[in-house]
Amino acid sequence: MPSNACVWRAISDYVPTGIEANMTKNTTTSLDAATPIVIVGHVDHGKSTLIGRLLHDTDNLQEGKVAQIIESSKKRGLKIEWSFLLDSLQIERDQGVTVDSTRIPFNLAGREYVIVDAPGHRQFLRNMITGAADAEAAVLVVDASEGAREQTRRHAMLLHLIGIRHIIVLLNKVDLLDFDQAKIEAVQHDVTDLLTRLDLKAAVFVPASARDGDNIAARSERMPWYTGPTLTEALVAVPSPASRAELALRLPVQDVYRFGDKRYVAGRIERGRVRVGDTVVIGTQKTPARIASIEGWHTAPQVSAYAGQSVAVTLEPDVIPDRGDLLHHRETAPVEASRVRTRLFWLRQEPLRVGESFRLRLATAEHAVTVTAIESVVNLDDLTENPGEEVPPEGFAQIILSASENIQFDPFTPGTTDGRGVLVDRQQRIVGGAPLVGAAEIAPGEKVIHPSASHVSVQDREQVKGHKGAVFWLTGLSGAGKTTLARAAENRLFAAGVDVTVLDGDTLRAGLCSDLGFSEADRTENVRRAAEVARILRDAGQVVLVTLISPLKSDRELAARIIGEGFAEIFVDAGLDVCEQRDPKGLYAAARAGKISSFTGIDAPYEAPQSPALRVETGAQAVDAAAGELVSFVEAAVRADAGQRKRG
Ligand code: ADX
Repeated sequence: MPSNACVWRAISDYVPTGIEANMTKNTTTSLDAATPIVIVGHVDHGKSTLIGRLLHDTDNLQEGKVAQIIESSKKRGLKIEWSFLLDSLQIERDQGVTVDSTRIPFNLAGREYVIVDAPGHRQFLRNMITGAADAEAAVLVVDASEGAREQTRRHAMLLHLIGIRHIIVLLNKVDLLDFDQAKIEAVQHDVTDLLTRLDLKAAVFVPASARDGDNIAARSERMPWYTGPTLTEALVAVPSPASRAELALRLPVQDVYRFGDKRYVAGRIERGRVRVGDTVVIGTQKTPARIASIEGWHTAPQVSAYAGQSVAVTLEPDVIPDRGDLLHHRETAPVEASRVRTRLFWLRQEPLRVGESFRLRLATAEHAVTVTAIESVVNLDDLTENPGEEVPPEGFAQIILSASENIQFDPFTPGTTDGRGVLVDRQQRIVGGAPLVGAAEIAPGEKVIHPSASHVSVQDREQVKGHKGAVFWLTGLSGAGKTTLARAAENRLFAAGVDVTVLDGDTLRAGLCSDLGFSEADRTENVRRAAEVARILRDAGQVVLVTLISPLKSDRELAARIIGEGFAEIFVDAGLDVCEQRDPKGLYAAARAGKISSFTGIDAPYEAPQSPALRVETGAQAVDAAAGELVSFVEAAVRADAGQRKRG
């Protein structure tokens, strides 16, 4: 499993093959030492063109490349189209939509840089988390003829969140404004406004035409009024990364090994220095120990080591830290809290609500956390922060994460790895970037709960059971045959080795839900409880067949939301006339006689599903055939992916 540090750094180590080979004459560029620059901008504002032009004008392209670009531009009847460079490097795919964040090394005035090309569509945030978080500076490309647009705001927000402080605004396409000073300064004014609202300040605004090369590497003769730097001059002025070695020591434990009678604590020093003889404190247990020796891989024992180095230390006394523990000096302890205020950039396509649980990766540590409050949600139109019930898909918010143990962290600081949390879901997918900004107090009267997440992985459960966990929600009128169908299917699935449970309406109402009646509110609560139980069973890897009339569409949507992935709505469809004629429990007759009220189909509504995952016709069909349909559907749904995962 990749550590969080790895997640943040993953792309530093990744240069797609072919790109380097195609690239620079100065092939000495080392990505480690290079200054990362992220280039962002609204789609069509000229980012790709800028990158092509920049590489060319700074002599970072092979001769052959230029010829190739001229050739492909000509073919399409265009002037030189610099964005074709990216195409030809296979960075842009999908009909001109940049898909991956990519690192492109280049050299300027003897200094090494790497361009982190963050794409202009929805992959943007995810890639920023993994690829661009360490950027020293950003170039925000704004089409001067269009001004700031939706993505410009989004990107500026992200620069604010990940703490990129040095921002160069490239006002592109100024030829469309006839290089007119007043018009260009008006755009500059608008963008300044936008940045100010986010607490950001541009280091410089460069009016430019990336297509024609004005103010990229050469001063434009068409804007004599502009006396500021060209883009390359602005890049040269980007401050060098601050030295992390001078900060307080943080050595997150990656692993503990035993060789002979010695125990080695291994990890990469995130910041600070450590010396033999230092007393360090280990993790939240606060055990002190002395550094007895420091060894690197394939190097002689050292007296000291500093930020960026991977080391193995031995401790006296021989205490055993856990993976994820932080080693630090006593005087400079990190913050410790079980409730942490977090700025979230949410990546999932579904909204986030209070009560959801995740794993928080932080350096080498992982903590089970629950979202216990959403403090504010950012409105991307005007960048205001407002109270909100949920974080919208790909939204930004300030939230509180609660864990059942203390989390040690340094509050998020721009330009460092401090406090850079990542949220992952049960499937180990990254669902959010979560910079931790500080400890959060418990608000008066707040409901403080600490749901715990299983340590058994979804994959391991699937492997043992041979199928996925899932919930099949059977809805239909009373007497439609939901229970009969589910019980028949349960038999067959069990015989086929499926771990299956039926949550039946009448059974639940006899126990768990015995306090509930048939008002709309009670039915909603009935559905909610059943869905919560189904979710727990699904999380434990079971196949759950829920049989509830669940007459309202909104209630079934609630169930789908609670359960999330692996929810399937099954419509057990028999007409009211058939059900009433069957009347196995005599309830329709009783309802007609006015002995029971709010009876579904008689004096309470039933909203049939419009597009169920499966519709099983039970009006005329025999139970066996209907059960066969359901069983095939369930088997196909729960076995297919599990099999694939196993092979993968
Ligand atoms: S739900 O509407 O809240 O989903 P549920 O499936 O739990 O209903 O319970 C339905 C069962 O309760 C029926 O099968 C029937 O046996 C019984 N029942 C008793 N009164 C009613 C009523 N007024 N409406 C529907 N079902 C009722």
